[in-house]
Amino acid sequence: MSGPVLGLVACAAGGIEDLRTQLIEPMQADGWTVAVTLTPTAATWLRASGEFDEIQEATGLAVRDQARLPTEASPHPQVDCYAVVPATANTVAKLALGIADNHALTGVSEAIGNGTPPIVVFPRINAAHAAHPAWRGHVDTLQRVGVHLVVGDDVWPLHAPRSAPGRQLPWATIRTTILRAAAGP
Ligand SMILES: Cc1cc2nc3c(=O)[nH]c(=O)nc-3n(C[C@H](O)[C@H](O)[C@H](O)COP(=O)(O)O)c2cc1C
Repeated sequence: MSGPVLGLVACAAGGIEDLRTQLIEPMQADGWTVAVTLTPTAATWLRASGEFDEIQEATGLAVRDQARLPTEASPHPQVDCYAVVPATANTVAKLALGIADNHALTGVSEAIGNGTPPIVVFPRINAAHAAHPAWRGHVDTLQRVGVHLVVGDDVWPLHAPRSAPGRQLPWATIRTTILRAAAGP
């Protein structure tokens, strides 16, 4: 394995079913190694669909959903850029508040505090998530510390909950944002 390493964190949100074909394999085609970590709920979903094993096979790395034992070495290489895709409203809120109560949150929370490596987040949210009174503050917090948020009416217009099933994520914009973030200022 060679090339830069993308630490890809995926949450239990729509679009995760396309993660391998729309993000992992295209990034590999661009020369990246992709190390995938899932939230506990996302891991349940991908185990049920069979994608958990497919992603392990495609990346050649363990898909992580649990912390290692203190006596174990990490099965993932050091990361050059994090991407949280898709990010749930839940995980975005936890990242903004510094809550790291599952393994997927741990590395990204640390990177937010460190200011490195760069982080890209695509909040796969609906209009109700965005209307929550705490949402604006979470987005402001993350943007203030330099997290690259893939948001806005041009890339992800907000719909009412459950009004747009099967919606494609803005994969091309997500991939471009990762490449730009990793290239630095
Ligand atoms: C079928 C289904 C689809 C969901 N889609 C989304 C979604 O697109 N965005 C979101 O923020 N939450 C979504 N949720 C809710 C999250 O899965 C839920 O908040 C979960 O606790 C998130 O856990 P995680 O952030 O640790 O992955 C969905 C739930 C279900 C059951």
